[in-house]
Amino acid sequence: MSLKAVVSGCGAYLPERVLTNQDLARQVDTSDEWIRERTGIRQRHIAADEEKTSDLAVEAAKAALTASGYGPDDIDLIIVATTTPDLTFPATAAIVQAKLGVENGAAFDIQAVCTGFVYALSVAEKFLTYGQHKRALIIGAETFSRILDWEDRATCVLFGDGAGAFVLEAQDEKVADGRGVVASYLRCDGRLADLLYVDGGVSTTGEAGRVRMQGNRVFREAVTRISEAMESVSEIAGIDVSSIDWFVPHQANERIIQGVVKKLALRPNQVISTIAEQGNTSAASIPLAYAVGVADGRIKPGDLVMLEAMGGGLTWGAALLYA
Ligand code: ACO
Repeated sequence: MSLKAVVSGCGAYLPERVLTNQDLARQVDTSDEWIRERTGIRQRHIAADEEKTSDLAVEAAKAALTASGYGPDDIDLIIVATTTPDLTFPATAAIVQAKLGVENGAAFDIQAVCTGFVYALSVAEKFLTYGQHKRALIIGAETFSRILDWEDRATCVLFGDGAGAFVLEAQDEKVADGRGVVASYLRCDGRLADLLYVDGGVSTTGEAGRVRMQGNRVFREAVTRISEAMESVSEIAGIDVSSIDWFVPHQANERIIQGVVKKLALRPNQVISTIAEQGNTSAASIPLAYAVGVADGRIKPGDLVMLEAMGGGLTWGAALLYA
């Protein structure tokens, strides 16, 4: 029996508080015009003081469960992609498991910064199609606002908080009827770690640290590496990039997204973009954007969807799935 990993539901959660570019311009030397022109971002959501990454993750997971028609007892794997865990340990996935009332299977976190959701999807797909687990919740969840230097205008304007989730389940190929993850492609080049990192951690400073970034160098790497990942995953799948219906990119910067669209000759109206309203929510941005595409009826069952991301590490990758 050959198994496919099929997305049977997705969900999203954004904290209530909205921080606009105008709000930021009152805190640091920036302007709405500068932020919109360089990034496409108009606003971002910021978690309330008492809201933790696991709280955001749980809300997104509940929405994904509702969409899939499954309950906590049906889940036997939880993977949370996050750079901003509640605690050093246990894993945020373990905390999410308890809050959701899931009692079966395994739960762990994945740390690949903005590429975390693509890594999580790829790992979950292997677990499910190998037959080790039946039904997974894969969640991208971040409270990035907690690791920003709010005096550094070059980084604090870019990021936001949020969470998105997929219920991904193993289905017999015949039942899946063409749906499911087709291929994924993951990369890392640790030599480029100093382009984007956090200046603290458990075994260094003992504190969480703050985001440091050489933005223009990250920008220069992004279009090339993301395009390479999309071409590679298409080659692995034996599918031409021109065949995709929807492009759901990591929402880092509208100019990076448009650069990739141009390089790979995609159509602008194939892009699901949430960057203006949500900013860069790191590992959460892909499932958040995917959920928007499903909710507004653009992504329909059977559509071919390309996901991609690049982030700290540097890590980057892409995945192709039939919705
Ligand atoms: N408001 C006003 N001016 C600013 C701001 C701001 N918020 N931030 C930086 N500047 C200034 C700089 O100080 C600099 O001034 P100077 O010329 O007087 O020294 C000037 O703008 C140009 O700075 P650059 O860093 O060269 O600006 P750039 O055009 O590259 O835009 C940006 C910066 C938006 C960060 C861009 O480099 C970028 O988007 N890079 C990609 C980084 C990214 O998306 N990271 C997210 C994580 S990785 C990922 O998800 C792919």
